[in-house]
Amino acid sequence: MSDRNPTRLTIRRPDDWHLHLRDGAMLEAVLPHTAAHFGRAIVMPNLVPPVVTAAQAAAYRDRIQAALPEGARFTPLMTLYLTEETDPADVARAHAAGIATAVKLYPAGATTNSASGVRDFDKVRAVLETMAEIGLPLCVHGEVTDPAIDIFDREAVFIDRVLHPIRKKVPDLKVVMEHVTTQDAVDYVRDHHKNLAATITTHHLIINRNHILAGGIRPHFYCLPVAKRETHRVALVEAAVSGDKRFFLGTDSAPHTDANKLLPCGCAGIFSAPNTMSCLAEVFEATGRLDKLEAFASLNGPRFYGLPASDETITLVKGAPVAYPAQIETGVGPVTVFEPGFPLHWRVEA
Ligand code: DOR
Ligand code: ZN
Repeated sequence: MSDRNPTRLTIRRPDDWHLHLRDGAMLEAVLPHTAAHFGRAIVMPNLVPPVVTAAQAAAYRDRIQAALPEGARFTPLMTLYLTEETDPADVARAHAAGIATAVKLYPAGATTNSASGVRDFDKVRAVLETMAEIGLPLCVHGEVTDPAIDIFDREAVFIDRVLHPIRKKVPDLKVVMEHVTTQDAVDYVRDHHKNLAATITTHHLIINRNHILAGGIRPHFYCLPVAKRETHRVALVEAAVSGDKRFFLGTDSAPHTDANKLLPCGCAGIFSAPNTMSCLAEVFEATGRLDKLEAFASLNGPRFYGLPASDETITLVKGAPVAYPAQIETGVGPVTVFEPGFPLHWRVEA
């Protein structure tokens, strides 16, 4: 970029490689926020009940398309929720029919609606081998569920106990380590080039664990994997702004109503769809690497998935702080929007 302090930035239309859209009234309320800025999104399958089969994914895709605002150009990329009963032939059919873009692995009990996830990883070996053969990526929620492991260590332990062994047993499997939160995960991805990439969320580039706990408990910053200490956040920012092709945006925007967040045992999830691009522009600008935003948000993801980058563009414009709502209304109650804690000067031009 020739201009050292640009006030306009045009990039290929970004994609979100990890997104929760939910269903019904919540879907209708949150989808327009993503579709306004993003061309495609990998849609998480952790509905109740989960999206396990090709038929369920096709039906969910149709519901998403029906909920799109008039004129929106947005393509949902569907995922199948991996269970110990998943049939490799159904996964292959979903891939061949263009229904599934990835399969999602939740360790059982790791997070929201993950009860049907995997307990015994050997039980899904046949599915993983089929996926490796047909080139269908596995998106991984990388946290162990062993209650003896400290919650802040669950990602690092997962790499040693689960991820590395799976990758050794099925080396041709394409794996996305999702929403990485640690220096350990960044290092692992950097050191293991073959068939491996990672998504990074907007909020993990901005908050550390103090934001959740210091000076009062802040449920709206609680998500899984939980934000770690500052050194880890800095490692994530370095990876994101580096331009390294193996790191790309997956917002993990995960709406829950305030009623469900503000409970004695509140839900995990941060809703960032409305202001994600503004937040990212601030983060990249602060490091002097605004020129790498396009690689992170628009180029590296499609490259890993073997898809073309968008042939459309969006333009971010810098000016007075952008107003965005503190909450959005949904048919099931208000949902709080991610509050980064600093003013956002970049807006996506309509
Ligand atoms: O914070 C999270 N929320 N992490 C997840 O893994 C799931 C997500 C959700 O579905 O709410
Ligand atoms: Zn998620």
